[in-house]
Parts: sequence; structure tokens; C-alpha cells
Amino acid sequence: MDKVTVFFFPDNLVAHVAPGTSLLRAASLAGVELKSTCGGDGTCGRCLVKVKDGRVRAESTGNISKKAKQAGLVLACKTLADGNIVVDIPRDSRLDQHQVLLDKKDILLEEEESLTAEYPLNPLCRKVKVSLPEPTLTENASDWTRLQVVLRNELNCQAIHISLPILRSLPETLRGKDWRVTVTVAELNGCADVVQVEAGHEESKFFGLAVDIGTTTIVVYLVDLDSGLSIGKKGTYNKQARFGDDVISRMIHASEKASGLDDLHKAVLETINQLIAELLSQYQVNSRDVQLAVVAGNTTMTHLFLRLNPKYLRLEPYIPLATAPPPIRAQELGLQINPSAYVVCLPSVASYVGGDIVAGTLVTKMAKAEEIVLFIDIGTNGEMVLGNQDWLVSSACSAGPAFEGGGITFGMRAMQGAIERVVIDRSSYDVTVSTVGGLKAVGICGSGLIDCLAQFREAGIIDRAGKMQTDIATPRMRQGDDSWEFVLVFSEATECGKDIVVTENDVKNLLRAKGAVYAGIRSMLKAVQLGEESIDKVLIAGGFGNYLNIRDAIIIGLLPDLPAEKYTFIGNSSVKGARLALLSQEAFHEAQELGKKITYLELSAGNDFMEEFMAALFLPHTDLTLFPSLGKQK
Ligand code: FES
Repeated sequence: MDKVTVFFFPDNLVAHVAPGTSLLRAASLAGVELKSTCGGDGTCGRCLVKVKDGRVRAESTGNISKKAKQAGLVLACKTLADGNIVVDIPRDSRLDQHQVLLDKKDILLEEEESLTAEYPLNPLCRKVKVSLPEPTLTENASDWTRLQVVLRNELNCQAIHISLPILRSLPETLRGKDWRVTVTVAELNGCADVVQVEAGHEESKFFGLAVDIGTTTIVVYLVDLDSGLSIGKKGTYNKQARFGDDVISRMIHASEKASGLDDLHKAVLETINQLIAELLSQYQVNSRDVQLAVVAGNTTMTHLFLRLNPKYLRLEPYIPLATAPPPIRAQELGLQINPSAYVVCLPSVASYVGGDIVAGTLVTKMAKAEEIVLFIDIGTNGEMVLGNQDWLVSSACSAGPAFEGGGITFGMRAMQGAIERVVIDRSSYDVTVSTVGGLKAVGICGSGLIDCLAQFREAGIIDRAGKMQTDIATPRMRQGDDSWEFVLVFSEATECGKDIVVTENDVKNLLRAKGAVYAGIRSMLKAVQLGEESIDKVLIAGGFGNYLNIRDAIIIGLLPDLPAEKYTFIGNSSVKGARLALLSQEAFHEAQELGKKITYLELSAGNDFMEEFMAALFLPHTDLTLFPSLGKQK
């Protein structure tokens, strides 16, 4: 049999695959994304499906719970299609298709905040209207030379480039409206590149994209380059998630599997193109009128987006293929905007401090500040920059995906139905939760998990090592499948129809995540011989949705014990920085400089980080003197 048919229920989607293909791969080919934290290694136990009909073969059993087995479920990544089959996908196994929650802030407010006298509206791309002298028998310079001469005068720039497809259509365009043309040029790195030549001088709109490629989610802003206003924004899951939750599993897939690099490159492009298509259709914009894209992502994401092998990012001494990749034409990448549009990736600092952090540093304006600022982006990695106008040092620690919901039983991204706030009564252990959108609870996002850990500790549900106090008098505390667990919301009040619990193993994962971030901050402070008290301002970015309880983050020892007024939560600073660079030549050049100026501190190079990490695996820390405002704790 050449191909077998895998039918997915209840979506009614079909994949035709070679016998021996895993159901995880078949699902992805059919367009159904399954949860696959481990990237198909069989260890996370999240890609559960039920084979309703047909012949399959188990490659291995993998890590599947007793309960799941009894319910007739199998791991999609370890189950191979041997004949035509019908597969049922439980709701819990899906990587949610809902839109990612974007920052609540009004778009217009962001315009006012970022475009200032310092960064006036001066986009990387502009339209110029020129009239060329008609050729004669005696003045017979070529069409392209003729255009170059007037553009050089107009742009005050000597180096002008054009792509072959535009050059090919130039003769008719120039002659179409009596040698009057409107030329769109991108001005990057001292050169002017022709993006489009239109006949005549008619007014026409042109647009740009600001793109944040996160390991978990991707966000795209559609921006009017004439007015500087963002027209719309959309976000969704990065389809690369099917190859693993974190950058390490994706690097391994890209560098060790035959088609790995292509798989990841296609998945990220597919995600961005889908968001672009939705934006263009909603706002009725023609793809040809989108003439520039600025992209910010961590170093691995930038490599995969450009289809650069990330192999050496992962291997000591962790060397990127490029920290400042050249601008690329959209056509070369397969980005579905004007084929000649330039796609510019903001520079990275090092393997684990990427363009997203450069974008964040730019938008926080910390490189112009007199005071000492700590900027932290908490995602699957905790990346941070410390400094001011005189110096900037950065580092990254592997926090794992816990604060983005990865590796947590009911963990999820901040989206509709995610529990974002938790309050637990100290005597009755009754729980009050608030969810994003005020809907029935589906799971818990990062801010909810931080609240939860702090509330557990304050209510005496866990001890300082994160161990559950199993003797407390409440039916919410119970022995679960793998460890003790505490019920946050009982099934009758949840959207998923299951009790939403936080297990002792979840608490351990959260302790590791928060310990890594705090240890990163401490190691960086030590390296520059400063204490927490020297920090004047802390700016926090990350996928927490619209809410982050700073006090709770201090209680669990995730953030330093500083007065609340020093903290500001700034949402997705990566896409905001990309947008700023798109709209302002000054900001773009500053981002280029930041890529070179920020010093990178490799935490794995010394022993400090490991020592700090071990000490931070308690609530809030082994050294309570670091958290004086919390008082004495048992
Ligand atoms: Fe199948 Fe992790 S167990 S993807």
C-alpha cells in the first residue's frame, strides 16, 4: 500500500500518509495541532488520541498515564498508522486554536507613547514621486540609469539597488504615464533599495509589518507607514510547537532530523502567513501594498525563520550563525507580502539573547536612562538586561516553559478562560479565581500560577520546599495519579469538565522556573558588583496577559524584594520594539547599535549561577535576608 488514509474526528480532516507515519505527524499534515511538549519523544504524555477504527502499531508505549491507558488513549507520537484509520482527538490534546491574548492597551495609546521627538515618524520605507526626462537620440541613457539619476538627487544616496523582476517591468512602467513614476524605496544600512515602481503620481497607501516571533506565540501588527498608525494586530500559537515546547527541542529537531530545518522553517512561515492573511482580509489591504517587515525574535527563532541551521547555538561555546542577518526580500523567504519587500530581523546579542530583547531594550529606552534599569522578559527563557546609558549587560537562563503553561498539568497561555488570579481563604481553603474574559476556567496561565504558588505558601498548603501539606482539612487536597494535588476549581464550574488541579510536581516545575529567573538576576548583579538595592526600576515583559501580581512574584522569590513602585509590567515589548524600528530610522539604527553595545554574560561559564539556582529552589529563597519585607517565615 502506497499511502494510508488517516481520518481525524471531530474535525473531519484527512491526511494521506505513508504507512508507518506517526499519528502526531499525520495530524499536523491534516492541519490539527496536538500538544507535544516533548516534540514527539514520547515523554510528555500530552499528545493523547483515541484510535476508533483501523490498524495501528505502537512504536513504544512512551510515558502514558494509567488513567489515559484505561480510557483507551494512546500517544499520537508513538503510534504509527499501518492501514486506513479513524482517530478521535480529545479536546485536551489540542493546541488551542483560540487567538492569543494581546496587550489590552489601546493601539493609539501605543503610538503616542513610542513616536516622540526622539523617534519622529520616519519609516524605513517611503514613497517618492519622480518625473524622468524623456530619452532622445542624443540623450540616450538606459531606463535604469535614468531612474537612478533622479533617485540619487531625491534621496541624497548614491547606492541604489533594484531587483531583477522590477527591472524587467521598468520600461513599460516608466512609459505608462509619461515618465512619471512613484517609487517605493527601503532605506537600510546606507543604501536605497527599490521595492516597487508604479506608473503615475496617484496617492496610494503603503503598509509595514511588525512581527514578534516568540517560541510559543507569534504576534503581527499591520502598520500604516503614511500615518504611523497600527491598523490591526493578531497573534496565535507558533506552529513549531508540534516539534517541542522549548528552543532546545526545536534546535535538536532542526539539526538532527533530515527534514528538521525545513519542518521548523515552514511551520513558522505558515504561522506568520496565516496571521498576515487574516489581517489583510480583515482590513482589506492588498498584499502588494505591504512593503516592509521588521521581525524580532529570540536568536533560535530568527535562525529558524531565515532557515539558518541553529546547530551551533546549542553546542558549547554556543555560537550563532549570524547575529545581524542581512535584509532579505520577502519572495526569497516566502513571506506573502509584496515579493520585493524587505524583511529585516533585529540583531541578536548572542545565542540566548536575541532580537526580541534588543527590541525590548529599545522600547524601554533604558540605553538613554541615567538610572539603573533591570529589564526582564519571562518566557521559556528568562532573558534580562541590566544597565543604563553608560553600560548594558545581558544574560539568559533557561526557565523552562512553566510560566507559559508548559509542563504544568492544567497550564495554558494567557487566553480566554485562563485563570489569571487566585485567592485562597486562609482558614477554609476556599478558592476564588478570575479568568481572562470572565469565562469558565479552562486552565491556568503564568500570572495565575504565580498567584497560586504565593497563595499556597501563604495559606500553608505547601512548605518552603514546595511540599504539599497533606494533613490540611479540605477535600481540595487529595492524592492524584502521580503526586498530591490541590483542586483549584471543581469540574462543575470548569469549561473542560474536569477538576482543575495544581499538583506537587507542578509546584516543583514552577520552583525550578522561578529559581532560574531569580538566580539569573542575582548572577548578573554579582557580575557587575551591584546589589538589588542599586536597581532603580524593573521593567517586566512576558506572556502573562494583562495582569501580573508583583507582590506575589516577590513572595515566591521570582523577583527581587523591591518596593512595588519600582516595578512596571510592560507586556509584549518585542513587537512594540519591532514596530518602533519600522516607523523610525533613528530607532532602527539604535537597535543595530544595541545589538553591538549590549555585553553578554554567559551564565554557564562560572559556578555562580548553579549555586544561586540551588539556593533559589525554596520559597522565597534559602536566604531570607534577601526578602526582608516578607518577615520571618516558617
Ligand atoms: Fe507525544 Fe510528547 S508524548 S509529543
